[in-house]
Amino acid sequence: MDKNSKIYVAGHKGLVGSAIVEQLRDEGYTNIICRSHSELDLTNRNDVRDFFAAEKPEYVFLAAARVGGIGAMNVQQVEFLNGNLRIQSNVFEASHDQQVKKMVFISSAVIYPVNASQPIVEESLLSRAIERACEGYSIAKITGIKQCSFYKKEYGDDFVAVVPANIYGYNAIYDIKRSNVIPAMIRRFHSAKVHRLKSATIWGTGNARRELIFSRDAASGCIFIMQSKTDCDYYNLGCNKDYSMLEIAEAVRRAVGYTGEILTDPSKPEGAARRLLDSSRINSLGWSYQTPLDDGLRLAYEWFLENVKDKDELYI
Ligand SMILES: NC(=O)c1ccc[n+]([C@@H]2O[C@H](COP(=O)([O-])OP(=O)(O)OC[C@H]3O[C@@H](n4cnc5c(N)ncnc54)[C@H](OP(=O)(O)O)[C@@H]3O)[C@@H](O)[C@H]2O)c1
Repeated sequence: MDKNSKIYVAGHKGLVGSAIVEQLRDEGYTNIICRSHSELDLTNRNDVRDFFAAEKPEYVFLAAARVGGIGAMNVQQVEFLNGNLRIQSNVFEASHDQQVKKMVFISSAVIYPVNASQPIVEESLLSRAIERACEGYSIAKITGIKQCSFYKKEYGDDFVAVVPANIYGYNAIYDIKRSNVIPAMIRRFHSAKVHRLKSATIWGTGNARRELIFSRDAASGCIFIMQSKTDCDYYNLGCNKDYSMLEIAEAVRRAVGYTGEILTDPSKPEGAARRLLDSSRINSLGWSYQTPLDDGLRLAYEWFLENVKDKDELYI
């Protein structure tokens, strides 16, 4: 990628896409093109074709997707499956037709089997059953990896996927119906602090373990993969460290400054018992994460305070 290469970042207003754009600009890339969801609906095949034919991007980051928490994914399997498949198929097809030099597709760690050996190596994909509660979303994300692989094998396209751990950071979704784990905890603890509640409750038993990566680090991994010679179809992207949900809740509570008790609600879904990625494949190319959890959570909370208008609403 040259500094004046034409780079399309799909999903540039989101958590990951906005961090990719910010870092590309910081690195001196000057020809970045973006379209918001309202300007270009990526589920519309003709519009995507027209856009690619007119703009002819040389490099594409596919960070647009229908994303949500486990609750939303569980009850809207059709929407998460079809919505993401449409976006992916349209962008892959148009990237192929317009001879995009390289595309990085952002998949997700939920693609891996629920009972995969930990830490999860890339080879465990499709070796056992995946998490039921987010099956629609996961199958779309698995398909994206296969699309990278098949386009490369059949047509020689340089399409590659990254498989990030849970991402948190700036521009996260704080809408209660759509937010995932960290924004939901930030909201809940902030609300408990502001409304002086004695306790705040997190979903699940608190024992499930998750790996978290700050949005800037996720973006730097995506850009690193774009800039590197990549021989594999997909690369895990994480910090090689996980925490129990209760430990994560404690860390969020510290960042927010809430002093009440943390309760758990085992009746609510919490997904796979553990999901720790083995990121040695990308580490061996020379990339590693930078931001410790406490620092990232502090920055995410600062962003929440500055940007979320209804932040002080009661949220239990
Ligand atoms: N967040 C995580 O923890 C996590 C973890 C692993 C992987 N990922 C993956 O990382 C990628 C980015 O996720 P994110 O967390 O940054 O999500 P996000 O904050 O929701 O951003 C996604 C962006 O895509 C846009 N978008 C959705 N549907 C679209 C459509 N039909 N046409 C055009 N734009 C559309 C959204 O716009 P609107 O908001 O206006 O709809 C939003 O700006 C996704 O592929 C996701 O699967 C995320």
